[in-house]
Amino acid sequence: MARRLAAGRLVIASHNAGKVREIADLLVPFGMDIVIAAALGLPEPEETEDSFAGNAALKALAAARGAGLTALADDSGLAVHAIGGRPGVHSARWGGPARDFQAAMARVMREIGEGGGRGADFVCALALAWPDGHVEGFEGRVAGTLVWPPRGGRGFGYDPIFVPEGDSRTFGEIDPDEKHRMSHRARAFDKLVAACFGQE
Ligand code: IMP
Repeated sequence: MARRLAAGRLVIASHNAGKVREIADLLVPFGMDIVIAAALGLPEPEETEDSFAGNAALKALAAARGAGLTALADDSGLAVHAIGGRPGVHSARWGGPARDFQAAMARVMREIGEGGGRGADFVCALALAWPDGHVEGFEGRVAGTLVWPPRGGRGFGYDPIFVPEGDSRTFGEIDPDEKHRMSHRARAFDKLVAACFGQE
């Protein structure tokens, strides 16, 4: 049985403005008083784990202990089956310091190679941590197929090459509100809500 989340202050342990906005929007119906890690002067820990869940837990725990409050963190990325799940936890880093995702998408296709399988998953791990060190983790996944060349300019990161299963549009061609309802982050969030805010 997951630990319940009581109404009150919750730190969002992310320094990515887009993610903070998306998570804060998802939390609106639950009456949480949201505080952003950066506003509390909390440093961003280095992501040293080799799994999404490990990195999400590390970030949430650092914020919960630093602030003395419950904290929520997210770690996400693209896992391409033909290349052993890469870029995986390195998804952001493949964009380099300039966050050049045109180059990162080209690298994905180059590494898959001619005739390589195009199956991939977007994965999101959410971790909720309490100052006493307790952590609850939730994972959401969307399966899809990679296409080349990239299509659509609406999302971010690897969106223009990812077609979710059952659709013919890339995430870069889908309206952001629609994408947010079906995304790996939304799926992880649904699990968190069911476990930590749902009926007992
Ligand atoms: P994180 O901040 O370490 O979790 O980095 C996540 C990285 O994964 C982002 O910089 C993107 O490159 C990629 N990523 C995660 N979610 C998405 C998505 O919904 N669309 C496109 N790229 C994503």
